Amino acid sequence: MWKIQLFKLNFDQRELKAVSETVEGGWLTMGERIIAFETAFNGFLNSGAISTAVSSGTAALHMALLALNVGPNDEVIIPALTFIADANVVRMVGARPILADCASLSDWNLSAESIGRRITPRTKAVIVVHYAGFPCDMAPILKLCKDRGIRVIEDVAHAPGASIGRQLCGTFGEISCFSFFSNKNLSIGEGGMVVTRDAALSQRLCYLRSHGMTTLTLDRHKGRAITYDVAEPGLNYRMDEMRAAIGLVQLEKLPAGNARRKALTNLYRHNLQGSLVTIPFDHLAIDIVSAFHILPVLLPTGCDRLAVIEALKAKGVQSSIHYPPFWSFSAYQGMFDPADAPLTAEICRRELTLPLYPTMTDAEVDYVTNALLEALL
Ligand SMILES: Cc1ncc(COP(=O)(O)O)c(C=O)c1O
Repeated sequence: MWKIQLFKLNFDQRELKAVSETVEGGWLTMGERIIAFETAFNGFLNSGAISTAVSSGTAALHMALLALNVGPNDEVIIPALTFIADANVVRMVGARPILADCASLSDWNLSAESIGRRITPRTKAVIVVHYAGFPCDMAPILKLCKDRGIRVIEDVAHAPGASIGRQLCGTFGEISCFSFFSNKNLSIGEGGMVVTRDAALSQRLCYLRSHGMTTLTLDRHKGRAITYDVAEPGLNYRMDEMRAAIGLVQLEKLPAGNARRKALTNLYRHNLQGSLVTIPFDHLAIDIVSAFHILPVLLPTGCDRLAVIEALKAKGVQSSIHYPPFWSFSAYQGMFDPADAPLTAEICRRELTLPLYPTMTDAEVDYVTNALLEALL
């Protein structure tokens, strides 16, 4: 249907082989491939990180809140501009999501200032999101939260491979949550990783992942255990072996994939320079590396976004919106005041996401930008 779709998987024979070898191996879940994927992820993050593979990014976020004992009467500050999972998980543990605004119309991440404005005596945690793969300015955020005794959870769904001064996103927060959903930089279908550098927290996360059980089916299969204890109530947020096998291949492809995304983003910037369309996060400091997860643009003020989407569609170009505002959702009516996040409200009205994926060609970027500029004439 689409000439150029929003996202395409970066898969080849290697993923296929990884899955078929797993199936032939006869062990489908929580086996050697999970251990290998977690170990490889620890090596990738490289700062004492302990990774636990889980069934989704949302599961990781839910577990992070449970592990930090966030619950009723607590407030959790989240970005006003993010995917709904961040708000949903806060509500699922009985706490209250509090929206903080974007730093500016060119930096769509939270800042220490925007977080600071929303802190109350009930604030228990902050979930930061590295929107579009661009790292939040973590040093002042970490300092603010440390001074106020607030826990920091990183939502790294957009940002595997992003870094600040060589420190990778996912190693700043007390707990960090990755998503490996199909359209992410590291795609395995459904899956995620929950990461901490604290051994006690990691143990709790392992219990939360698998019913609070102290041994796994694999341990019993290998004769390492006969039975198990249940240390605390837990869930089933496990990942299976096929996904871990794909994850191992995708992790190897991540650096080249992110590099290609960067080159494509630069081409988008070049093509749209001088037009009325702007691309956020143009303040790349020398020590900041983005993961270039999506290509969001800000359309001109007063522009009819739906007409632009239709015009792109007529030319076979898929586009998307990241994100509709929370206050537009039925389940969130009356919970938030858009006046608390005016920049987000404006971005939500004018944002459009253009296609971006590692196998995209330069000619395809040219086609998309020409189609967009013509749509704006
Ligand atoms: C910022 C953000 N947080 C959380 C999630 C949830 O991840 P998952 O779909 O793996 O549950 C997503 C995925 O779309 C996301 O973009």
